[in-house]
Amino acid sequence: MTTSSKQYRVGMIGAGAIVQRGHIPNFQAVPNAEVVAVCDVNLARAQEAAQATGVPNAYSDYKEMLSKEGLDIVVVAVPNIYHKPMTIDALRAGANVLCEKPLALSSADALEMYGVADEVGKQLAVGTHYRYSNPVQSAKQQVDAGFFGDIYAARTLWNRRAGIPGYGSWFTNNDLAGGGSLFDIGIHAMDRALYLMGYPEPVSVSGASYAKFGPRGLGLGGWGMDKQKPTPGARFDVDDFAWGFIRFANGATLMLEVSWAAHFEDQFYTELYGTEGGAYIGSEDRMELYTNLNGQPVNIPVAVPKGGNSYGRFALDFVRYLDGEQTDIVTREQALISVKIVEGIQKSAASGKESRIA
Ligand SMILES: NC(=O)c1ccc[n+]([C@@H]2O[C@H](COP(=O)([O-])OP(=O)(O)OC[C@H]3O[C@@H](n4cnc5c(N)ncnc54)[C@H](O)[C@@H]3O)[C@@H](O)[C@H]2O)c1
Repeated sequence: MTTSSKQYRVGMIGAGAIVQRGHIPNFQAVPNAEVVAVCDVNLARAQEAAQATGVPNAYSDYKEMLSKEGLDIVVVAVPNIYHKPMTIDALRAGANVLCEKPLALSSADALEMYGVADEVGKQLAVGTHYRYSNPVQSAKQQVDAGFFGDIYAARTLWNRRAGIPGYGSWFTNNDLAGGGSLFDIGIHAMDRALYLMGYPEPVSVSGASYAKFGPRGLGLGGWGMDKQKPTPGARFDVDDFAWGFIRFANGATLMLEVSWAAHFEDQFYTELYGTEGGAYIGSEDRMELYTNLNGQPVNIPVAVPKGGNSYGRFALDFVRYLDGEQTDIVTREQALISVKIVEGIQKSAASGKESRIA
């Protein structure tokens, strides 16, 4: 719980996230934050979201919102291509920014965004909120207590059998999204593992990516405000399946597997391998620890709390972070590592060779 008396005026750009993921209620639940405006290029959508949540102002032009509202926090939740320009404009308008993932389409863009944040003295963080989920927090408790010893390897995956979002919309258009499953859910799966591994410095990446379902109009999911009917022929030039193998300077390795569509069951979990113990960390409330006890292998199921709201915790932590408190919010170093890794996977997938990370 924050103890600050500072009140934060929050504005949201992109009503899709608000309607589908409850961003407004999550910020409204933060004691010293007030959501004062919503913007969407589709004004009716912004008005509807504002009305449904009791937010007083709706805009179709985010620059107008920035100039009129005196915002302390701007949430950028729009197609990926707009993350950089809107974040920079919001920072320059005097706001701190919580940008949705992926922070940027390239590491050069991400560095530029943090450069502007430094120049204007504002904070910037990215929306990888699954680190706040109950199983990941339970695992973090074991990491901090030293249960695993030295974590030398991890495997993290988020595989959907049929979950391509926004078919034919920005989601499946490389010019607007910059990537497919890797950028959409791969970054979340990766953050879960890297957060628990202590975000080691990556040195090289080997990756492969495919688009075997989307171009045929198969494997479509329900997500996205502007998707087309599920018929083949809509634009689809992003990945719907990607694997990455990442080596770190401390000798550790990470295997990342992600799919929007595949002939396999839905899967969402992270495995940790340490010198003293290992773990299976599920998506909801399942977690199991593995170790040796008195010379015998034992499996320890962990009673992970049920429920919870990872984005809500994330919103609260962002505000606490602005209040100067110690939090688990995504740091600049972590955000840059994430962008460099997915960029490396894309480069390696395109070249067929391992990609070095500078
Ligand atoms: N953190 C998470 O769990 C999570 C989950 C889903 C999506 N996302 C991210 O959130 C972002 C948006 O995804 P989504 O699922 O909400 O997409 P969506 O397509 O459902 O909604 C996007 C919204 O942005 C609006 N928009 C487009 N251009 C705009 C502009 N110039 N100005 C104002 N509004 C504009 C659209 O009208 C639409 O309402 C993406 O970057 C995505 O990666 C994050």
